[in-house]
Amino acid sequence: MKTNKLEKDWWKKAVVYQIYPRSFQDSNDDGIGDIQGIISRLPYIKKLGTDVIWLCPVYASPNDDNGYDISDYCDIMKEFGTMQDMDELLEKANAMDIKIIMDLVVNHTSDEHIWFEEAKKSKDNPYHDYYIWVDGEEGVLPNDLKSDFGGSAWEYVPACGQYYLHFFSKKQPDLNWENPKMRKEIYAMMNYWIDKGISGFRMDMIELIGKEPMQMIRENGPKLHTYIKEMNAATFGKANLLTVGEAWRADIEKAQQYSNPDGSELSMVFQFEHMKLDKQPKTPKWDVTGLRFQELKEVLSKWQYGLEGTGWNSLFWNNHDLPRIVSRWGNDGKYRVESAKMLAMVLHGMKGTPYIYQGEEIGMTNIALSNIKDYRDIETLNMYKERLEEGYTQEEIMHSIHLMGRDNARTPMQWSDCEYAGFSKHEPWLCVNPNFHEINVDQALKDKHSIFYTYQRLIQMRKEMEIFSQGDYHLLDTSDQIFAYERNWNNQKLVVIANFFEKPCAFPDIDIEGMQVLLHNYEAIDGKQLRAYEAMILFKG
Ligand code: NOJ
Repeated sequence: MKTNKLEKDWWKKAVVYQIYPRSFQDSNDDGIGDIQGIISRLPYIKKLGTDVIWLCPVYASPNDDNGYDISDYCDIMKEFGTMQDMDELLEKANAMDIKIIMDLVVNHTSDEHIWFEEAKKSKDNPYHDYYIWVDGEEGVLPNDLKSDFGGSAWEYVPACGQYYLHFFSKKQPDLNWENPKMRKEIYAMMNYWIDKGISGFRMDMIELIGKEPMQMIRENGPKLHTYIKEMNAATFGKANLLTVGEAWRADIEKAQQYSNPDGSELSMVFQFEHMKLDKQPKTPKWDVTGLRFQELKEVLSKWQYGLEGTGWNSLFWNNHDLPRIVSRWGNDGKYRVESAKMLAMVLHGMKGTPYIYQGEEIGMTNIALSNIKDYRDIETLNMYKERLEEGYTQEEIMHSIHLMGRDNARTPMQWSDCEYAGFSKHEPWLCVNPNFHEINVDQALKDKHSIFYTYQRLIQMRKEMEIFSQGDYHLLDTSDQIFAYERNWNNQKLVVIANFFEKPCAFPDIDIEGMQVLLHNYEAIDGKQLRAYEAMILFKG
């Protein structure tokens, strides 16, 4: 099955819905989400108005890192279904004009991938060079490189007398991109999926593939862009696919290179500069400080100006690795609805391709489980052990997990107020957030003032009004707690004004005379003040 031919740059008007399959919808009541579950919810995604799904990994995997450890790129994870289910998903989504982009995890595989099972047998094995090895003695590490999930990035294999590199868990050995044979196999695999009719790739940790570990170079290695260009030419280049690279260390210049409008690399990247503003630079994500709001305005504006005409932005607050934005920088108590709508308006008013993470559209919140045994995420569990050994108190560690743990985003989707939130009839693999009685899709669809309808309207406006995808951006000078900007296009003007805080403040000195209100999270504009988390989008044509 193939989708229709895609138009060039179609993704500039797209809005993407990210699905974490394990937690989206269970169809066979084993407590784990699956592909048939996703198929059953396509009408919901259509109703929201999103036209692209980013599917987190559904490939065969032993699940050390919930599918980001792939043991077979051309097979489906047993708990999620079969290749037949996957084909059905592609076909049904296509029939509804919903495109699917797949997660591409090619910085590493699972250690249970046949390539690694062979590679670790001996130095002479034909697959040995598919991975990164350094000769050494057991107990004497090649260098100080660390794994993102704790401990050293090196693991010893006695049969080879060598260490292999793993920037994530030791069950996720890093592939050796220096090896042209390995690269060719990856490109063949990508073409297999392109031929099936997918519309793009989200590229996991793509910035790592040019690494030079013995030089202690992780991100942005010297050959990174050579590999991306080669991949582009060998696979998606001519097919106008949406490609988005995960690039934590990208700055404007690098993003211009990645998303060069000449199409030689990717459509866009996920850069994370704005998502690091509630901690001090170079400190672990667990050591949260307050959000530096002035910097948030500066950073988001810098990216808007920086890629104008020279690249393309992705717009996001959430994904499966980040805590829920309404709990993080909004208010998940009294002003949950107002603040979730405000955050949506601030982001979706900007230029770029917006991404919505499942449950964001109904204002799902973080979860605070008191027992570490209830957490599932490898990163969280490893950090817990490591910090206990380092002398942190249990309270300190649990506090960090409640704020920043990845399981915050991975609790089952809240569909209804039935048992297990309508996600499954069986106890789910990770606890349902106890607030599902109030926060769920059924409730949201019934209430015409719900967060869901704000997202629906934002998506609809982007489809109908060119200014959302085309207009240029200018930050407006306002007081400390307001985020306001305007967009201009073809003599049209869009103004977004938002009070980012609970405390009311004076209405900013912005001329809104004669402007039409497109969206507002309160009944009527006061004119003198902005109330708690008040936000509006205004238009003049
Ligand atoms: C980034 C993914 O988003 C995350 O979930 C995963 O653990 C790492 N890459 C390793 O693949």
